[in-house]
Amino acid sequence: MQLLVVGANGLLGSNVVRAGQQRGWNVRGTYHSTRPEFDIPLTQFDLSECDSFDDVLTERDPDVVVNCAAMTDVDGCETNPEQAHVLNGDAPGELAAHCNANGIEFVHVSTDYVFGGTEREPYSESADTDPVQVYGESKLAGEQAVTEETADALVARLSFVWGIHRSTDDLTGFPAWVRSRLLAAEDIPLFTDQWVTPTRAGQAAETLLDLIEQDATGLFHIACSSCVTPYEFGEVITDHVDISEELLSEGSMDDVERDATRPAYTCLDIENVESELNRPQPTLREDVEEVWNALR
Ligand SMILES: NC(=O)c1ccc[n+]([C@@H]2O[C@H](COP(=O)([O-])OP(=O)(O)OC[C@H]3O[C@@H](n4cnc5c(N)ncnc54)[C@H](OP(=O)(O)O)[C@@H]3O)[C@@H](O)[C@H]2O)c1
Repeated sequence: MQLLVVGANGLLGSNVVRAGQQRGWNVRGTYHSTRPEFDIPLTQFDLSECDSFDDVLTERDPDVVVNCAAMTDVDGCETNPEQAHVLNGDAPGELAAHCNANGIEFVHVSTDYVFGGTEREPYSESADTDPVQVYGESKLAGEQAVTEETADALVARLSFVWGIHRSTDDLTGFPAWVRSRLLAAEDIPLFTDQWVTPTRAGQAAETLLDLIEQDATGLFHIACSSCVTPYEFGEVITDHVDISEELLSEGSMDDVERDATRPAYTCLDIENVESELNRPQPTLREDVEEVWNALR
């Protein structure tokens, strides 16, 4: 399998590169600002210049493209909505069109922030979308652009992505921040009024490749099976860092001023991917154990 990872230097992208290599696939990648430390063919590519993507496809000749690149700074999207819509809304459709024209399978990655957050039951793939900030609006536009270009694309929505960055081998995302504060014995205020189903990047990468191997198409939610608050996520981490939970304190989303609104509840229903692959998604505790074992 010839795999091209767009955004190979991102947290998810680096895990897709690593997972592809471990399966013996022929992996190539693109990067934007930072060239990752992978020994694979790499091309610099900017999502705002999608006309050049045809040249990348000609040069790298993939069977499948996985688009892990996006403008992921949620507050940055709010203050720069034009750029958010170009990178997250328009570019995915253009990439899909180039792939379609060349007979290449296209896989795209989206977000739980397409949902408004007013529900209290996990959102299924068919639930109504209602983004409450520019990031979610632009990502939803990207999903729609992809499916307009090609009916048989694979689109995966993730939630609260964290894990080991596979180019640097550093723990990345929320647990890295919690761990560093725990080790520095600093107080850690964590929200008790936000609910997410954290997605471990390495698990999502393996799941994406499993879906590709099964020729799956359509929309899938990929996340752990635990719907938790950041405070509860913090409690799982303190168990593994072996430092007193007393450093954790209860906080509210209202305590923090940010440019973009966050939805209160975006847990994802993962039944669809579980039944497609005939296996359960991990719990958050299982995911944390996996990462902590890898870091040892
Ligand atoms: N992080 C989350 O909590 C979360 C939650 C749900 C869904 N998602 C989705 O999951 C996917 C992967 O996210 P991630 O967490 O891996 O994000 P990430 O670590 O921030 O990676 C983003 C990637 O996008 C690339 N990129 C940014 N601007 C670009 C541009 N103008 N042209 C080309 N590439 C550009 C970056 O390249 P360089 O590093 O080379 O600049 C980087 O490789 C995204 O679609 C995101 O929307 C993320």
